[in-house]
Amino acid sequence: MRLIRPDNKYIQSYIEANEEDETFRPHAERRFNHPETIVESSYNLEHGINLPANYVRATTFWLIDNEKFIGEINIRHELNSFLINYGGHIGYEIRQSECMKGYGTKMLSMALAYCKDTLNLHKVLITCDDDNIGSIKVIENNGGILENKVKNSLARGNVTTRRYWINI
Ligand SMILES: CC(C)(COP(=O)(O)OP(=O)(O)OC[C@H]1O[C@@H](n2cnc3c(N)ncnc32)[C@H](O)[C@@H]1OP(=O)(O)O)[C@@H](O)C(=O)NCCC(=O)NCCS
Repeated sequence: MRLIRPDNKYIQSYIEANEEDETFRPHAERRFNHPETIVESSYNLEHGINLPANYVRATTFWLIDNEKFIGEINIRHELNSFLINYGGHIGYEIRQSECMKGYGTKMLSMALAYCKDTLNLHKVLITCDDDNIGSIKVIENNGGILENKVKNSLARGNVTTRRYWINI
């Protein structure tokens, strides 16, 4: 099992992960829906090329196991005034057919090593919806300490957001 940067070698597997969402989560927000641009856009985001307004640099990794795309994790290199309340340093998704097998917990732990060793971060903020039990457990399994809950007004509506810190 390894984290790699988005690579066209696994693009077919990534497309299949998106198709799983179309089947099993037809009304949910799409997670893996940019096969044509993901490799270039993630490179640009990591290197600060054509950064959209209010974006910070971020590294995207794919979790690969047995040559299959399992999930994606995005690591923001710093916080800004938006991320401090919603989004935090790290966001992640596991493809539907591979959920509840421990991959989310493992992927976050592997990403924390990158945060410490490469980004030189000593604590990271991770946020999730107050009712996202899977994400809450992924964070708490990795030592997350709840600081507080805040209200956020987003395009998808008003949400209560949990804000966790992990010391690394
Ligand atoms: C949240 C998510 C990443 C979890 O990934 P995962 O691979 O299923 O996580 P794990 O298998 O490591 O599960 C961690 C724990 O949560 C539990 N869990 C996972 N999904 C769950 C769910 N939907 N309901 C209840 N418990 C759940 C697991 O049983 C496990 O429990 P344990 O630690 O007591 O054994 C995945 O469901 C996902 O991609 N969700 C959509 C995107 C999202 O919410 N991202 C996070 C945004 S903050």
